Amino acid sequence: MKQKVLGIVGSPRRGANTETLVDQVLKGSEESGAAVEKIILSEMNIKPCNACNGCQKTGTCTHDDDFNSVLEKMKESSVWVMGTPVYWWGPTAQMKAFIDRWYGIDRSVFRGKRIVYTIPSGGGPYYAKQLVEMLESLIPYLGMEHIATLQTGTSGMDSVKNNNSLMKQALDAGRKAVNK
Ligand SMILES: Cc1cc2nc3c(=O)[nH]c(=O)nc-3n(C[C@H](O)[C@H](O)[C@H](O)COP(=O)(O)O)c2cc1C
Repeated sequence: MKQKVLGIVGSPRRGANTETLVDQVLKGSEESGAAVEKIILSEMNIKPCNACNGCQKTGTCTHDDDFNSVLEKMKESSVWVMGTPVYWWGPTAQMKAFIDRWYGIDRSVFRGKRIVYTIPSGGGPYYAKQLVEMLESLIPYLGMEHIATLQTGTSGMDSVKNNNSLMKQALDAGRKAVNK
């Protein structure tokens, strides 16, 4: 059976830098024989955590929304390609709401997942360091494996497409993630 790779786009700007980089990673994985799929968080109904602790009591979130279908895709995939731009030193609201919902998931879902993340920012890596640090803490904490980080400083709608070296890095990351 083909390995599955899930792209998770946290930017609300369709076709912009984050999605372009996620697509490029997925392309690398697909070329290496994986089945790829992409979700756009801003087009889904994923409510923020209410901290009701219902999940800790019953194992199920009290919200009944699109997160349930995403969770199934997360379970089936061995690689998650997570993309978010830097918004005020952190992830977008859509990506943060999505990650907060991980609070209620059985930890076995995370174990051994391979993670590539793509983080465009207006100012470049210096402005992304807090977000990178957050992900670098979160990933091993949940037993996941970090494969690659793709960063750039750009604000133009799709200026990342002209960054040949980064586009190549993204393609290579997609290949590496499924060939480990
Ligand atoms: C609400 C908002 C907050 C932002 N905050 C930052 C920031 O703190 N640091 C930074 O370098 N860029 C910041 N940016 C710029 C984006 O990170 C940058 O334009 C990025 O390339 C957008 O990704 P996208 O093309 O996928 O939408 C911000 C943009 C927006 C809309």
